[in-house]
Amino acid sequence: MADKKFRRIGVLTSGGDAPGMNAAIRSVVRTAVQNGVEVMGIFGGYRGLVENDMKLLDARDVANIINHGGTMLFTDRCLEFKEESGLQKAIKTCRDNKIDGLVTIGGDGTFRGAQDLTRRGIPCIGLPGTIDNDISATDYTIGYDTAMNTVVELVDKLRDTCESHARCNVVEVMGRNAGYIAINTGLATGAVGIAIEEFPFDIDETIEKMIALKKAKKRNFIIIVSEAFGPDFSENLAKRIQDETGIETKFARLAHVQRGGTPTLRDRELASLMGYKAVELLLDGKSNMVVCIHDEVICGIDIEYALTYDKLCKGKIKPEDITGFSDEQIAKMVADSEIKRQRMLSVYEIAEKISI
Ligand code: F6P
Repeated sequence: MADKKFRRIGVLTSGGDAPGMNAAIRSVVRTAVQNGVEVMGIFGGYRGLVENDMKLLDARDVANIINHGGTMLFTDRCLEFKEESGLQKAIKTCRDNKIDGLVTIGGDGTFRGAQDLTRRGIPCIGLPGTIDNDISATDYTIGYDTAMNTVVELVDKLRDTCESHARCNVVEVMGRNAGYIAINTGLATGAVGIAIEEFPFDIDETIEKMIALKKAKKRNFIIIVSEAFGPDFSENLAKRIQDETGIETKFARLAHVQRGGTPTLRDRELASLMGYKAVELLLDGKSNMVVCIHDEVICGIDIEYALTYDKLCKGKIKPEDITGFSDEQIAKMVADSEIKRQRMLSVYEIAEKISI
């Protein structure tokens, strides 16, 4: 795959960290090295480009990190990079350090940065690294599986003590505006209620259900709530449940513990395969793409397509307002987004049906 044009590439992690980012860095470095290409590890996301903070990494520099959470390159949400002056500094840093292309690991903000750099002549490939799984073009993001397993482990512990004391625990999970962590951990922990923004959550119905289940001698109750509802929602919900069901109800916000820890097999595997694909795409002369997994196949998708499709899935744009794509492409986006929504709805409905 080696293209003579590429002598040195850069790799960075940006935005919120996610378990598996280190496995992705390792894969990028080793794939490049195998192809005779040097790799600059850029520290602190785009800040490292703006401030010229980086070092060359060889295969041994990324040894023993596949099993570590966090990111050895550190991360940041760099506001200066969003300004034209910051972007220009980043481009100059790339030129000064002879960086011919970049692999940027992070969420949608990271991909917008990659797009800006590509447009100005620095080819970039994005890797989806976020626990939120909120990048619609990919079925899974790096870090999502580990975060969910952390939630499951913690909720299982809460459930033990709820059972002993005949209590309810309302648990708020991360995911930003996306309900993926909530819905799947809700299913996996047998939650009696799952509140996410994507589908209506009927509090009265949940309360009625809990009263009936209490009568049927159920002792532990878990309600999973997405953080998308804002900081007070879960706490108020816990109070209301306690008042209206007579079941003592506690509240737990799992917060950043969900972002750390040893990456699961799935995240290490995904990160390793995606890192390999990113370098392969770059050296094949591709740029402005995000690496995705779709129906178990690792593929590259144009960033503009991925970001537009993402907006469509999140209801931020209507199909008739999409420009720059053919009618066939827009029709495909609409069809795919409907499949995605239906899959999520089906998990939500099944979780609801079997939590009796
Ligand atoms: O995007 C990952 C994420 O952990 C979200 O789930 C959460 O809303 C946000 O980042 C928290 O950001 P910060 O680390 O800046 O508190």
